[in-house]
Amino acid sequence: MSDSKLGGQFTFPGTSLTVQRIGYGAMQLAGPGVWGPPKDPDGAVAVLREAVAAGVNHIDTSDFYGPHVTNQIIRQALHPYPAGLVIVTKLGASRPPDKSWLLAISPEDLTAGVHDNLRNLGLDALDIVNYRVMGSGHGLEEGSIAEQVTVLADLRRKGLIHHIGLSNVTAAQVAEAQAITDIVCVQNNYNVVYRQDDSLIDDLARQGIAYVPFFPLGGFTPLQSSTLSDAAGRLGATPMQVALAWLLHRSPNILLIPGTSSVAHLRENMAAGQLTLSPQTLAELDGIAALAVDVKH
Ligand SMILES: NC(=O)c1ccc[n+]([C@@H]2O[C@H](COP(=O)([O-])OP(=O)(O)OC[C@H]3O[C@@H](n4cnc5c(N)ncnc54)[C@H](OP(=O)(O)O)[C@@H]3O)[C@@H](O)[C@H]2O)c1
Repeated sequence: MSDSKLGGQFTFPGTSLTVQRIGYGAMQLAGPGVWGPPKDPDGAVAVLREAVAAGVNHIDTSDFYGPHVTNQIIRQALHPYPAGLVIVTKLGASRPPDKSWLLAISPEDLTAGVHDNLRNLGLDALDIVNYRVMGSGHGLEEGSIAEQVTVLADLRRKGLIHHIGLSNVTAAQVAEAQAITDIVCVQNNYNVVYRQDDSLIDDLARQGIAYVPFFPLGGFTPLQSSTLSDAAGRLGATPMQVALAWLLHRSPNILLIPGTSSVAHLRENMAAGQLTLSPQTLAELDGIAALAVDVKH
């Protein structure tokens, strides 16, 4: 892996979309609380342009970041989009003026959401749309998603969406969706500490489906671990780079979308693709999750 730029490449199954395994998550470009404009609008544009100039061709976004702000910054920074850039957006929520997150999952909501994304991104069709399940809490919640996936499949037939993915879903929900349409990616909460999806990742890998962890660096609670720091010290890297490199080593279907509003952090994150982790270091890092579970109990 050491000589592959941006972690090497991955092709979404059944598509002509090939991306570098290190992409970029745009949520951090909205203001505090994922609301409103960024503190530094020029800085946000600079991050996006630097990412694409360095070869990143997979950007994760949503119209509920801002709301609309993140998509509008992507358009401002990158439109007309370079050939091969894959923008992945997600539907399932809306943001009322009180800054809360509301379900937006009716056929009308989802259809309006696709049109909002098309308008704000300046596109005629969306490469990949994830249906993001919003449970009552933060975790995964079982329950049928057939109605929503059927609506997205209809919008795909109309040509407004090229491919469909899922987010915040269980294995049963993935299977239910696959009975309706092809699923090219799954985006769930996962990182070196939080490993609830280990078996789902392996199952998706066998099918060639991308697994795109959100919060790869811990999200709103950045990862902190002496094991990560020790490994980073030995490798002359940073703990965040080691956390990203661990994900790249974990499974070939894992695609990274670390979020940052900082060009310096972006460069650091992109360089994680150059790190090779030895079997011993991987074993130590694998132990972090077990330790975290022990601490919780
Ligand atoms: N499907 C979903 O439900 C869902 C949920 C959450 C997020 N997402 C997507 O997943 C992407 C990634 O998640 P995320 O951005 O929430 O969390 P993340 O990538 O785990 O972490 C982002 C946080 O880490 C900091 N950071 C980034 N690079 C760093 C570095 N090299 N050193 C130190 N700190 C660093 C960022 O701050 P700075 O800005 O200061 O760098 C930010 O506070 C999002 O951008 C979004 O596109 C999806």
